[in-house]
Amino acid sequence: MKLCISLDLPSAEENLALVKEIKDFDVWLKVGFRSYIRDGKSFLEDLKAINPNFKIFLDLKLYDIPNTMADAAEEISSFGLVDMFNVHASAGINAMQTVMDRIKNIPNRPLVLAVTALTSFDNASFLAVYNESISTKATQFAKDTFSSGVDGVVCSAFESLDIKKNTSNNFITLCPGIRPFGEDAGDQKRVADIPFAKENSVDFIVVGRPIYQDKNPKEVVKKILKNI
Ligand code: C5P
Repeated sequence: MKLCISLDLPSAEENLALVKEIKDFDVWLKVGFRSYIRDGKSFLEDLKAINPNFKIFLDLKLYDIPNTMADAAEEISSFGLVDMFNVHASAGINAMQTVMDRIKNIPNRPLVLAVTALTSFDNASFLAVYNESISTKATQFAKDTFSSGVDGVVCSAFESLDIKKNTSNNFITLCPGIRPFGEDAGDQKRVADIPFAKENSVDFIVVGRPIYQDKNPKEVVKKILKNI
């Protein structure tokens, strides 16, 4: 299991200060809307400059018509800086296949994941949008994702095992909504701790606030790595 740290702080300086503190750890860094919209590609270069071994997950959750998604995927893959990015599974099989087809010949292409159900959904709010339960729909999205040639899914730890059973053990599951040691859930509705993530064969845990809101992020990261 790998640790992926969300860089969701209010400024590039604060994110970079956090990353400098943890520069010797074997972790993935998740760059999302906030950082990428504000700080762009040069922020990714700044992260790799701190430690070239950091792996970068660009969490932009692409969702558009197939050709536009493939254009974006090609641009991301051509940076040579991004190790993993994601799309929304609800964009459909055609969109996911078009993305994979477009990037398949790019040397060292990034891994691609598809978002099944956002972890901020509870069952009632998910039902209101998709007219199906989270577990049924997340598994369906995962099967579509798998058959499209995408490398894995973003899902909650509660769906990880079922998704692997319905696809393959090698199909990656990356799970946000992790509160490693039972910390405050914030706006997340379905949270899980490290033992639960392990039991459910989660490949990547994504942790944000429990790390960057702590007084001593380095210690939290150290403790998480010791426990995974
Ligand atoms: O602070 P916290 O640990 O809740 O951060 C979780 C991170 O994972 C945030 O950056 C959020 O955008 C992201 N994420 C999520 N649920 C998803 C996909 C991404 O919480 N389904």
